[in-house]
Amino acid sequence: MKSNKKSKISNSLRLYKKAGELIPGHTQLISRRSSQFAHGVNPIYASKSEGSRFVDVDGNNYLDWVNAVSAIILGHSNSEVNEAVKLQIDQGSIFTVNSPLEIELAELLVEHIPSAEMVRYTKGGGEACALAVRIARGVTGKDKVVFSGYHGWHDWYQSANYLTNPNDGEYPFAGIEPIGIPRVLSGTAIPFSYGDLEQLEFILNNNKNEVAAVMLEPMRSNYPDKNYLRKIKEITKENNAILIFDEVTSGWRISIGGVQKALNITPDMSVFSKAMSNGYPMGAVVGSTEIMAPAERMFISSSYWSDNIGLAASVATIKFLNKNRSEKWFRDYGTTFKEKLNEVCDDFDLEVNCAGTESSPYISFGNMGGHDLKMARTLCIQEMAKRGIHTNLNFHPTMAHSDKDIKETASALFETLKVLEKAINSNFENFVETPVSNDPFRRLVN
Ligand SMILES: Cc1ncc(COP(=O)(O)O)c(C=O)c1O
Repeated sequence: MKSNKKSKISNSLRLYKKAGELIPGHTQLISRRSSQFAHGVNPIYASKSEGSRFVDVDGNNYLDWVNAVSAIILGHSNSEVNEAVKLQIDQGSIFTVNSPLEIELAELLVEHIPSAEMVRYTKGGGEACALAVRIARGVTGKDKVVFSGYHGWHDWYQSANYLTNPNDGEYPFAGIEPIGIPRVLSGTAIPFSYGDLEQLEFILNNNKNEVAAVMLEPMRSNYPDKNYLRKIKEITKENNAILIFDEVTSGWRISIGGVQKALNITPDMSVFSKAMSNGYPMGAVVGSTEIMAPAERMFISSSYWSDNIGLAASVATIKFLNKNRSEKWFRDYGTTFKEKLNEVCDDFDLEVNCAGTESSPYISFGNMGGHDLKMARTLCIQEMAKRGIHTNLNFHPTMAHSDKDIKETASALFETLKVLEKAINSNFENFVETPVSNDPFRRLVN
């Protein structure tokens, strides 16, 4: 590993060091830790973001493909959403009594999301997942939850780590352990691997009449098999459990009503957050009246769930997506994006290609001449960052991204793959200037 003599990101590095003294783990979101990127090269602190770009605290400009881990869908600082929020701030950011916006957004969600007849709000995705689990347990009178995917930081979900073997690298993040989570919860949340119906059936059989819900991310980076999701719905029903789609990340991108709408498979409940409000805190749990109505008698209550900012932002985001025919936009943009990046990959005799859906493409690596894949990823993240492209090689396009942004990314990828090719054919370690970046977190889903 070479040392960085004159860093372009010295202010970021100074702040990060300071943060380490004041904030355990440096950041609030693990995906924002610099160890997830090429530490020492990628920016760590920003001062401004607009459209498809941000400026870091050292004054460098970046094309952003991370987009606040996909919370941004229209582009940073979208003027229509910001305008709605600013107006709302002037009217009052939170009232003493309730805001009619709660009903306006609920009506929009019911109109667009097939599984929505009633709605509850939160401020984040993990919180919404916990709320959905509370309702499912309350309605069924059963305790266990079978799940696939990532569903947040709360005890109900993280307790599943007690069932995994850390040596198999099954924890969501390398180096993050289930410390502080009550051991008594072990066995109450049981993971199944995405796509493995036999495993799901086995778990449900082994826990007969104990499972309140099956929760899964219906889609991550690749299109799901429709029959697979149908079969899950069938098995879940047979076991008198509630089917919950976690659409915190998938929601809004392929369709405003989520993957469920695009594939015409309606779960009993669903969870949304992130992109639904283009960067203002907001989450929602939706479901059938039969399942949601009993929540009235459950203790589900929090002061800031009733603020007006996330509501105003969500309403404005949905209106913008509708007005600009977002579903077609993402399909077309992602198709061009993948084509252009794959043209670059094809110029090289490397096992690299651009895979995934049009709304969430990613760079996939095959054999890197026997070299460590993590090293290869780190090298590419590093080289892209040097060329002003901030990415962990998963891409979250927003409606502010342009064809020029694709061209810039393809050109940076071309230069990056040239370096990768050279590294593979010589002393690889000498090309990686930073510690090896951590994998994005594992989520028991492909
Ligand atoms: C599918 C899914 N569920 C839940 C969460 C947790 O959301 P939040 O980080 O807002 O708590 C995430 C976040 O990445 C997610 O992708």
